[in-house]
Amino acid sequence: MERLKGKRALITGGTSGIGLETARQFLAEGARVAITGRNPETLATALNALGGEALVFESDAANIAEQKKLAEQIGEAFGTLDILVANAGIVEMRPMGQWDEAAFDRSIGINLKGPFFLIQELLPIFANPASIVLMASVNAHIGMANTSVYGATKAALASLARTLSGELVSQGIRVNAISPGPIATPLYGKLGLPEADMKHVAASIQNQVPVKRFGEAIEVAKAVVFLASDEAPFTVGSELLMDGGLAL
Ligand SMILES: NC(=O)c1ccc[n+]([C@@H]2O[C@H](COP(=O)([O-])OP(=O)(O)OC[C@H]3O[C@@H](n4cnc5c(N)ncnc54)[C@H](OP(=O)(O)O)[C@@H]3O)[C@@H](O)[C@H]2O)c1
Repeated sequence: MERLKGKRALITGGTSGIGLETARQFLAEGARVAITGRNPETLATALNALGGEALVFESDAANIAEQKKLAEQIGEAFGTLDILVANAGIVEMRPMGQWDEAAFDRSIGINLKGPFFLIQELLPIFANPASIVLMASVNAHIGMANTSVYGATKAALASLARTLSGELVSQGIRVNAISPGPIATPLYGKLGLPEADMKHVAASIQNQVPVKRFGEAIEVAKAVVFLASDEAPFTVGSELLMDGGLAL
């Protein structure tokens, strides 16, 4: 199927996990795809994984000047933009008493402030119709220990799906959010846990999910395709919870 035929898409954090799989699905559906990441090596590896078919841009999601530059680069490459998937994100887990201002600002910067200003910079080049998909999280809905800041950033994204839809729908821009539960991606290897602890954490998470498994990146990517496509013109300001029942 070519449900995104001819559409031009920007996926932030497209070098790994959900973003990389979304890029793969978008290309298979006929889209032209640009991805971002912070690291030239992971960008090169991702480009290779995508058969050399994507545009890659080095861009730190927390850096507002770089979001402006990225919007300019997308304008030069694509002219107008049909789809933005604001997917780049980090998870930093700490007990409430161990947060400091730098760590707080890092999570807010990458997960919330950067995407907000990227959307602002892209406003002049969004096509009509256009679709924005924000990658939120089930952590916006559950009281998982040590996720206060992460959960807050993701709750803010789900809120933005509604408020920005209210503001932008008259320009033909739909904004929706997806809130995945635990998805098997390299993200868990970045939590800084020793391997033995990681295995314990993974088993414990899996046990809490009613379907008793982690989700797959492709399951989320297929939902992004739907929300980004012309099959979803009446889906505006929604949040799709894909969590194996974790928030039940
Ligand atoms: N996996 C889950 O269980 C899960 C559940 C709910 C929500 N999510 C959300 O889904 C999104 C993708 O997660 P994932 O599991 O696919 O994680 P991942 O495999 O760690 O991928 C994260 C992506 O974000 C990029 N990124 C991180 N910080 C960045 C920055 N400052 N600027 C630009 N790019 C940056 C990474 O690029 P680099 O190559 O530069 O590192 C990478 O491409 C995140 O927003 C995450 O919060 C994940």
